[in-house]
Amino acid sequence: MALSLSRQGLAASQSWRSDAVRKVDADYMRSADTHLIPLAFAGFPNIDFYFKDETSHPTGSLKHRLARSLFLYALCNGWLREGATVVEASSGSTAVSEAYFADLLELPFIAVMPVGTSPEKIAEIEFHGGRCHLVDDPTQVIDESRRIARETGGHFMDQFTYAERATDWRGNNNIAESIFSQMRAERHPVPSWIVCGVGTGGTTATLGRFVRYQRHATQIAACDPENSVFYDYFVSGDRDLRLNCGSRIEGIGRPRVEASFLRHAVDAMLQVPDLGSIAAIHELEVRLGRRVGGSTGTNFIAALSLALDMQAKNQSGSIVVILCDGGERYRHSYYDSQWLRQNGFNLDESKQALAATLDHGAALPFAVRSAMLETAQT
Ligand SMILES: Cc1ncc(COP(=O)(O)O)c(C=O)c1O
Repeated sequence: MALSLSRQGLAASQSWRSDAVRKVDADYMRSADTHLIPLAFAGFPNIDFYFKDETSHPTGSLKHRLARSLFLYALCNGWLREGATVVEASSGSTAVSEAYFADLLELPFIAVMPVGTSPEKIAEIEFHGGRCHLVDDPTQVIDESRRIARETGGHFMDQFTYAERATDWRGNNNIAESIFSQMRAERHPVPSWIVCGVGTGGTTATLGRFVRYQRHATQIAACDPENSVFYDYFVSGDRDLRLNCGSRIEGIGRPRVEASFLRHAVDAMLQVPDLGSIAAIHELEVRLGRRVGGSTGTNFIAALSLALDMQAKNQSGSIVVILCDGGERYRHSYYDSQWLRQNGFNLDESKQALAATLDHGAALPFAVRSAMLETAQT
C-alpha cells in the first residue's frame, strides 16, 4: 500500500516536472531571436558598431535567457516541486524574468531586492504575480533570500552561483551563437570585440566560452561601473574583495566577487565612470532614437574606448555591444532631471564631448580604466 502511494506520488511529481519542462521549452519555441542593430559613427570610418538588442525578449532584458536556463536547470536537478515557492536575489531584471516563468508554472515567486530598485521593475514583477521583498542593505539580498527560502520550504534560485552553470555555452542559440549567425553577411563578420557588463557574470562566461569553443578570433570585454569589485578582482585575483555599498548602474556591478564571474573567460576588463554610462545613454537616445538602460551605457563607453585603441593602431573591424534592457524602466532615475541633479550628474558638457568622440574620433571625456587578462595577476 505505502509503496503504491509513494509510487503514485513519484508519478505525480514526475508528470508535473515533465509538463513544467514542456511549458518552459514552449516559451523558447514561441520566442523569436533578438535583433542586431548596426549604428555607424563618422568618427570611426573603419569600425562597425552593432547593438545586440535584448529588450525584445518577452520580459524586456537579457535576463529572459538566464531565467529560462535557471528554471530548466532547477527542474532537471529536481529542485522545484509543484506549488513550492521560488525565491531570487536580484537587482530587478532577473526577478522580472523569473516571475514570468514562475507564473507560467503556477509557482509563488518572491524577489529579494535592494530598496531603491526601480518602481517600474517592481510593477513588472507584480504584474507577473510575483511578490517583492525589499532590503535596506544591498549586500544582504542573498542571505535574506536563503532565509525566506528556508522559512517557506521553497527554492532559492541563486542566479549569482548558477548563472555560469545553467546556460548552455556551446550553442542552443545562446546569445553568442545568435550574434555570430546574425553577423555572417556583415563587412567584418567576426567581431574584434563583444562588450558586456557583469552582474552575475553569466553572460560574459557564455560569450567567452563560446568564442573559444568555436575558435573565433573575437575577444570578450567585460565592464564594470563604479562601486563594484569586479574590475579590481580581475586585476588582482583577490576573491575576498568587499564593498559596503551597491553600484548605481542597475543590473551590473557587485559589492562582492560572485561565483559566476569567471575572470579567465574574458580577455579584458574596463571600468567606466557612472557619469560616462549615463551620458552615453542620453547620447544613444538621440542616435538610436529610443531609450536604453544604464548598463548599455557602460557597455557603449567601454566599446568606444576599445574602438579608439583600434583606430590608433589603424585597425579596422566590428564591435558588438550588448543592449541589455530598455530605458522605460528608468524613467524615475537616469531619465529624471531631478534624480540626475540630486546625484550630481550634470550631463551637458559630457554629452557634447561624447558627440565629438562619435563624430570626429576625439578622445573620450571620461577616465576609463582597462586591463588585459594577460597582465592580470593569475
Ligand atoms: C540590465 C542588466 N544589464 C546587464 C546585466 C549583466 O548580466 P549578467 O548577470 O549575465 O552578468 C544584468 C544582470 O542582471 C542586467 O540586469
